[in-house]
Amino acid sequence: MQALPIFYNIAKRLCVVIGGGDVATRKVNMLLKANAEVTVVSPAFHHELEALAAAEKIQLIRAAYDATQLNAACLVIAATDDHLVNVAVSSDAKHMNIPVNVVDAPELCTFTMGSIVDRSPVIIAVSSEGNAPVLARYIRTRIETMLPAGYGRIASIAGEFREKVKAKFATTQQRRRFWEDVLQGPVVERVLSGQEQSARELLAGMIESEASMTKQGEVFLVGGGPGDPDLLTFRALRLMQQCDVCVYDKLVSPEVMALVRRDAELIYVGKARDQHTMPQEEINELLASLALAGRRVLRLKGGDPFIFGRGGEEIETLMEHGVPFQVVPGITAANGVSSYAGIPLTHRDYAQACLFITGHLKDGTLDLDWASMARPRQTVVIYMGLVGLAQICEQLIKHGVSASMPVAVVQQGTTQRQKVVTATLVDLAEKVSLAGLKPPCLTIIGEVVHLREKLAWFEPNATEEV
Ligand SMILES: C[S@@+](CC[C@H](N)C(=O)[O-])C[C@H]1O[C@@H](n2cnc3c(N)ncnc32)[C@H](O)[C@@H]1O
Repeated sequence: MQALPIFYNIAKRLCVVIGGGDVATRKVNMLLKANAEVTVVSPAFHHELEALAAAEKIQLIRAAYDATQLNAACLVIAATDDHLVNVAVSSDAKHMNIPVNVVDAPELCTFTMGSIVDRSPVIIAVSSEGNAPVLARYIRTRIETMLPAGYGRIASIAGEFREKVKAKFATTQQRRRFWEDVLQGPVVERVLSGQEQSARELLAGMIESEASMTKQGEVFLVGGGPGDPDLLTFRALRLMQQCDVCVYDKLVSPEVMALVRRDAELIYVGKARDQHTMPQEEINELLASLALAGRRVLRLKGGDPFIFGRGGEEIETLMEHGVPFQVVPGITAANGVSSYAGIPLTHRDYAQACLFITGHLKDGTLDLDWASMARPRQTVVIYMGLVGLAQICEQLIKHGVSASMPVAVVQQGTTQRQKVVTATLVDLAEKVSLAGLKPPCLTIIGEVVHLREKLAWFEPNATEEV
């Protein structure tokens, strides 16, 4: 280690920046984040610096550099494009024992700042000691994606309870064990999902009972997206890695399932058409009973849990049983599948609205609002409509939609098994049956489907266009 990583408190202390361009502006903004008193020295200034000065956030000295400007500074940054000035600033600051950083010149610095991940009050700085700043930035980006944005809030809430914990637990070891339990338990997820008050109550309860409540169960109702695992949200992936048991549907792709924690128990509850493995009411009760037994339950659904996903019914039951839960939205099939099929659902030249409709048959018939589906300048997206497709096309033509209206049916969109059939209302059913498409399939009806000829971009391995 060539330099000691330290966190330097510069709040309300004078920091001087020499240089007035955009690099200097970035440095000034960083110093302001740490509540420094900032003075900037330059013959001319970036407009953002002028605006900060006008708002009395910083002071400007419109002059050439001289060493007296460093008097009383606790930190100096040189960000000019004049090498001789940078050298002079470095040498003067060293002479005056003031820590100095010269942008892009590690040999002139007495300190460097590293690439920062800001989850205030948690701060992570990555340094390569000037050897490979791009690598340090790359590592920082990796850390950014690993650490949920709400980690800072966890630290703040922990800070609120620090004294109480100290008073309750006498030894450092007891306190450490307590905080480890907190960080592995439900408090963290409550903070991250925005339920801070509930997290505080839970934490207060844990201190009161001097016990960990990691055994309290909960349910994560997670949207697993349309199939491509790269479309999962950060939060979905994190919770998938944390669960004790995963209750999942047929629609969740094998690639997404592969990311569920390896030693979690897997419970398949089906939902293929006509062969519902478990009735919805039983699924609702199953989720509640698993959580009440103290388990962290991942309820993993295809797409988004609230779009034709019956997620609402599941959390209603959880509410009735007093089971804590959170809902993680997923990319719904209409979004994911249309993107991967190169069909912008609301391209403004063709559509001003987009309808999401379920084409699920009830008693073998379809009871849809045909008149509203037949309106011009809109796109209609039909979920679960494969069986009723012939009926849908027939009815739309009957209600005034042109027989030549373009339609696309996409099977297993976003996955390597994606297949797309394009046709018109009049020949769609025949083409789909010839192609032998199987569920899950999404149907998109509207002028926007024409755009696929120009905009198709995704090349699945098993591509077949009909
Ligand atoms: C019960 S709905 C669930 C929808 C899901 N909650 C969502 O937001 O996407 C099932 C229907 O979603 C559509 N679907 C889901 N994933 C799909 C995919 N990858 N490709 C095509 N259609 C899909 C199909 O129409 C399927 O019959």
